[in-house]
Amino acid sequence: MQLDRDAAQEEDNDGARKKVFIKTFGCQMNVYDSERMADALSSAGYGITDDLQDASLVVLNTCNIREKAAEKVYSELGRIRLAQEARRRAGRGCVIAVAGCVAQAEGKEMALRAPAIGIVVGPQSYHRLPVLLEQHAKSGETIVETEFEAAGKFGALPPGKLHAGPSAFLTVQEGCYKFCTFCVVPYTRGGEYSRPASEILAEAHRLADRGAVEITLLGQNVNAYRGTGPSGGQWDLPELLSALSEIPELKRLRYTTSHPNDVTARQIAAHRDLPKLMPYLHLPFQAGSDRVLKSMNRKHAMKDYFRIAQDLRAARPDIALSTDIIVGFPGETEADFLETMRVVETVQFAQAYSFKYSPRPGTPAADRANQTGEDIKAERLARLQALLSAQQAAFNRSMVGRTLDVLWEAPGKKKGQLSGRSPYLQAVHAEGDPALQGRISIVEIVSASQNSLHGVIKNCGTLVI
Ligand code: SAH
Ligand code: SF4
Ligand code: F3S
Repeated sequence: MQLDRDAAQEEDNDGARKKVFIKTFGCQMNVYDSERMADALSSAGYGITDDLQDASLVVLNTCNIREKAAEKVYSELGRIRLAQEARRRAGRGCVIAVAGCVAQAEGKEMALRAPAIGIVVGPQSYHRLPVLLEQHAKSGETIVETEFEAAGKFGALPPGKLHAGPSAFLTVQEGCYKFCTFCVVPYTRGGEYSRPASEILAEAHRLADRGAVEITLLGQNVNAYRGTGPSGGQWDLPELLSALSEIPELKRLRYTTSHPNDVTARQIAAHRDLPKLMPYLHLPFQAGSDRVLKSMNRKHAMKDYFRIAQDLRAARPDIALSTDIIVGFPGETEADFLETMRVVETVQFAQAYSFKYSPRPGTPAADRANQTGEDIKAERLARLQALLSAQQAAFNRSMVGRTLDVLWEAPGKKKGQLSGRSPYLQAVHAEGDPALQGRISIVEIVSASQNSLHGVIKNCGTLVI
């Protein structure tokens, strides 16, 4: 790609601030990464803009988990290229950087398919964006950086300064060694890496200083966390949660995503023993048939999952469970699918994400001959989603008449409304003073819909915390 060097330079000379527009696709880890990219770029003099026309740099932080997610990037690139051309006509430059899991998976191929791209940077290398921008400015060439070492990234990033909301994400673990046969993550994020506990605690303190009341710890296998403890030795996730509980400004802790195979008695006990740990657990089971689970290389059987659900409910009776499910995995029969439906009926989920199996290039299941037809996948997904929606609606309805602690995170869609989250991660709306953002109120739930609750603040704006 040819960089509009003079125009970019002119903007700098004018003293006009360089601005970056960041668009994020995919999971919460990408949301976290985008915030950290914003930190790295702000240290290099960039402001943030949500106006594409105003951006001298556009970063697309991409997701490769399913084909649809990956294809979105190319349609988005078309839109951005038009904005880039309009800026160029006005004598101003714009660099396009593609980051995230599609960047890692496709590398150079991306630049061949979309020559407007100036930089391709993988999820473990984005801390180098300012340097890559310089290289690109000097050479005018497309720069591709897909290094695979997570440890270097965290150490090299500047301390976070931009995030200042009541609820924050904090990545504690990256990558995956599990190689489920459907999944690209081990190829796009690399092997498992746990950040040292002291680094995480320092980041949590910084987030708390900037107004975070709730922190969600993130990891592709967050409950496989094994990081170096502050005085040597190894900490697991419950140890980390317990240390984070000691930070007075933090009132709520969450973590995602857990793998059934890594659930320990200590993790379950943490839900009993740590009052700040919210009664909610995202625990994907993927498929109800042990035969399919085996062919997915999930390494757990359904009896393990049922036992975990039972133990969790014994430790914390009100815990809300959420899950991920794939339908139409290669070789899934109607009988296998009915097993999945049976699991949903037995466990009863507060919320769930369900997907049609999407063959991903380079993963073992993609090459299998026994692929399930699109129409069968669509039909099974519709049946499953009808059941999951009914469960979610019933769970929400069961809150009506109860009082819940709600952390207000943002203004609601309607004027005078606040929007927040219940302990069970449900969206809650109520009329209230905007000054309550970042506070926890006691709310009486008066109505429920498929996706949210509506309530009345009972402590009249007096703060619970
Ligand atoms: N580490 C987590 C999941 C990360 S990916 C775990 O092991 O549970 C998020 C979800 O995307 C997965 O749980 C799975 O349900 C879904 N997923 C991953 N690859 C997929 C594919 N090829 N097709 C459809 N869904 C997929
Ligand atoms: Fe993907 Fe499986 Fe690893 Fe989860 S555990 S990230 S589904 S390979
Ligand atoms: Fe997508 Fe990568 Fe997350 S593939 S789901 S952005 S780890």
